[in-house]
Amino acid sequence: MGRSRVRQHVNPLTDKYQQVFQMPDWSDLFADLTAPLHLDIGCARGRFILEMAQRFPERNFVGVEIREPLVDDANEIRDQLGLNNLHYVFANINTSLQVLLDSLPTETLTWITIQFPDPWFKKKHHKRRVVQPDLVDILAKHTPQKLVLFCQSDVEEVALEMREKFLEHEKFILTHDSFWLKENIFPVPTEREVATANKGEPVYRFLLHKK
Ligand SMILES: C[S@@+](CC[C@H](N)C(=O)[O-])C[C@H]1O[C@@H](n2cnc3c(N)ncnc32)[C@H](O)[C@@H]1O
Repeated sequence: MGRSRVRQHVNPLTDKYQQVFQMPDWSDLFADLTAPLHLDIGCARGRFILEMAQRFPERNFVGVEIREPLVDDANEIRDQLGLNNLHYVFANINTSLQVLLDSLPTETLTWITIQFPDPWFKKKHHKRRVVQPDLVDILAKHTPQKLVLFCQSDVEEVALEMREKFLEHEKFILTHDSFWLKENIFPVPTEREVATANKGEPVYRFLLHKK
């Protein structure tokens, strides 16, 4: 795999990514549309949900990624493995979350993960970060009550900002008393999580549910 040269970062605010992206017909992709659904936002090469989809065949998995070559490669691997509970979508989640949710059986949506989002360190670039008030608001209004939302980052400032943006919304509440969640709730680490652990660096995590 990895046939394509892939840019390390794309700026989601450029014209190219302002469109509302096309969503597939999920009934062509998932064997069981009623299965509990896990949405992974900013999935990159998608290895986390690739492993999860094999461990949990009774769940459906959707990964959203703005770098198209990664999406194409990930769907190719999915096809080679013959998985019918996993699909990767090329989209800018900040323009296309609503249309994505409208296309999915949202009553099945049980987990959302936002893991190690691009940090965009410079202050003038913070508006490129994935967790923005609009995204929080759409998730608050168009996801079911049972939703579990898990976020993690190796950059404390980014984790703090995500935590603040979600908790500013009246619909979201932490599931834990501690400031950060001690452990990942999923049995599979993301690629970025493995790289962070290998460097011996900390990860800042939190888990939310809906009021
Ligand atoms: C640092 S990577 C982390 C990948 C993976 N979640 C992990 O933990 O290993 C963040 C990913 O989010 C993607 N991304 C950034 N902004 C996005 C957006 N607006 N919509 C969809 N994907 C986005 C990036 O292209 C990148 O692949």
